[in-house]
Amino acid sequence: MEYPSLAEIDLDALGANLRTVRSGLDGQKVLAVVKADAYGHGRTPCARAALAAGADFLGVAQLAEALELRADLGPHPRILAWIYGPDADLAPAVAADIDITVSTFAALDAVALAARTTGRRARIQLKVDTAMSRGGFALEDLAEAATRARRLETEGLVRVVGLWSHLARADEPACGLTEIQVERFEQARAASARAGLDIELHHLAASGGTLWHPSTHYDMVRPGIVLYGLSPEPAIASAAELGLQAVMTLSAPVVLDRRVPAGTGVSYGHTAHAGSPARLGLIPLGYADGIARSASNSAPLSIAGARTRILGRVCMDQFVVELPEAAAVGDDAVLFGDAAAGVPTADEWGAACGTIGYEIVTRLGPRIERRYLGDGTGTPPARKDETKGSPA
Ligand SMILES: Cc1ncc(COP(=O)(O)O)c(C=O)c1O
Repeated sequence: MEYPSLAEIDLDALGANLRTVRSGLDGQKVLAVVKADAYGHGRTPCARAALAAGADFLGVAQLAEALELRADLGPHPRILAWIYGPDADLAPAVAADIDITVSTFAALDAVALAARTTGRRARIQLKVDTAMSRGGFALEDLAEAATRARRLETEGLVRVVGLWSHLARADEPACGLTEIQVERFEQARAASARAGLDIELHHLAASGGTLWHPSTHYDMVRPGIVLYGLSPEPAIASAAELGLQAVMTLSAPVVLDRRVPAGTGVSYGHTAHAGSPARLGLIPLGYADGIARSASNSAPLSIAGARTRILGRVCMDQFVVELPEAAAVGDDAVLFGDAAAGVPTADEWGAACGTIGYEIVTRLGPRIERRYLGDGTGTPPARKDETKGSPA
């Protein structure tokens, strides 16, 4: 028995987005960010598609995600990870040849221990905080960190291959903070060079920096959201304006068509009342599937080629819509997909729910089947039923 809702993932759209990103660069490497199950799109299929489309590196947040990805993809792709617990045993990550981000002196000790335990040189990337006040060495500690890392290099325990940081306000191109972060990053770069490190990869830019701040491109960029065809800041430019194609189309069938008297209260709390003519449709998705309750009475859908919206409160497993004239039971209700198909986008959902497109796609639950189209190389999408529901 299958669940009725479907997220179609167009891997060729992902490949096309990656090539669009690359066309705006000047030869820099591209690290495809596939953390959080590739922003809800399915980590391994998206990682394979990104590699097929020419990604040089993969990036995930958690070390555990990196190890799972290594198990799925084998020894070749470079994989960077940047989050792990304070007591994490880093030996499995060293053994799996993950690029381990080091943000603290304790992590530097842990990685050296892991290198001794495994008998392998750990590949590490130092992270410096240049304004995000999140992870990373404080700028004033970077010289000491680089000196200690260099000592571990000479002992044969680590190889420092990267120095990186993260932008806090790249989606506000005029605010001036990115330029300050670049200056601080330059100071970190100089400090690591003075310590004797010869670093291959300096990187700073996620999607916003990649699109709007060429000065942050350095040796590699780390796009995430743009690969999935959403805009990092729709107020600056929509995904369509950026030449991106939505990778995910989320739909579910209309399972019920009810005519009710005008003015009938709808769903919990009767926060909405049926209009006239009053035709209500039921969609089998709810907040347990990641459909935000804040979508109640606001988020758009497309059914039978017409736009409609959610009526009343989103429930745990279902919500009600105003049914367009031409719609019938069994029709696909498209919640979001690519703008060129005339359907709402996840960015529109973000606006309707008071959040961002990132959150809309990343929180979809396991009752939504993922079905993969294409392979990232740009061949025309074709249904691949053998990959249905198996993101591996
Ligand atoms: C360190 C790091 N790099 C890159 C990204 C990708 O960001 P975006 O999806 O905005 O491109 C993220 C995501 O939050 C991140 O945490």
